[in-house]
Amino acid sequence: MTDVSRAAAALRAGELVAFPTETVYGLGADASNPAAVARIFAAKGRPADHPLIVHLPDASHLARWAVEIPESAHRITAAFWPGPLTLILKRHSAVIDAITGGQDTVGLRVPNHPLALQLLREFGGGVAAPSANRFGHVSPTTAAHVRDEFGAAVGIVLDGGPSDVGIESTILDLSSAVPRILRPGMLDAATLASVLGELPRPGGNVEAPRVSGSLESHYAPTTPLRLVADVELDTALREALGRGLSVVVLAPGATAAGNPKLFWQVSSTDPAQYAHDLYANLRRFDELRRDLILIAAPPAGEAWCAVADRLRRAAAGAK
Ligand code: TXA
Ligand code: MG
Repeated sequence: MTDVSRAAAALRAGELVAFPTETVYGLGADASNPAAVARIFAAKGRPADHPLIVHLPDASHLARWAVEIPESAHRITAAFWPGPLTLILKRHSAVIDAITGGQDTVGLRVPNHPLALQLLREFGGGVAAPSANRFGHVSPTTAAHVRDEFGAAVGIVLDGGPSDVGIESTILDLSSAVPRILRPGMLDAATLASVLGELPRPGGNVEAPRVSGSLESHYAPTTPLRLVADVELDTALREALGRGLSVVVLAPGATAAGNPKLFWQVSSTDPAQYAHDLYANLRRFDELRRDLILIAAPPAGEAWCAVADRLRRAAAGAK
């Protein structure tokens, strides 16, 4: 039996399977089996009202999971699936409540990774999969990251190498008349607009604060993390080192070497490469066991929107 066949059999038996996607690794379970889906929530420590994305082998499965599918959704899936895009549509009545968090919509995606697609085809149904990390922590982009998160608690981890994109899919809500982006990703609003015929609005970010004034913690390392404007980086670094702290810096420029209290990681000036490296960097910084992570805020602009979103949440969650 191949690894993928064993994984498909485990899904059919109601077990959890971690698998690679092009965005981040997912922690999968049979999306039509309530007991299997409950295992995801238990393993992650995730609140039960957070809905899960259902991963499909191809767009022909849409009608089993969604109803009132607008014509725009078909154009979007034809253009961008398989790919780093989740669609929010009106749920089919057969979709279980544990998937939707009791809402009348469902999140659906066809991931673009050969192992994920093999698994989905062999399983033949929908696989519910959040990112394979404990709730609030940094998402995994390698099989080793998943094992670090869950150890023996997840029996099967398919290893498909490092995820290409590196941050989670763009979430596009087509469940009402106005298309909205609920979570920015590397597939950006302008690219979606080229097929939608209109610019999706930013709206109701799914990971936005539920209580006003407090940011929900997400994608966070365990080391305190501060996001600082480029021009303030030198001052913030000098101040931290002056207090005797050991510091990791992630910034585009190089710096003078030789201070044992300082670990400097040069960041990419290309947003796609920056996103690809981001979570692996954050995990490595935790392993360095420094007192503080200082990150230079990325440039303004659409190309950096998704990276900036994850960095803001990481900083909010790591204090
Ligand atoms: O790239 C990704 O999307 C990865 C890979 C594994 O596919 N998955 C992922 O899942 O990021 P997760 O559970 O970590 O994040 C999914 C987000 C959650 O914030 C959830 O609230 C939102 O999608 N979501 C799922 N279904 C939804 C729905 N019906 N309405 C609004 N938001 C939804
Ligand atoms: Mg997640």
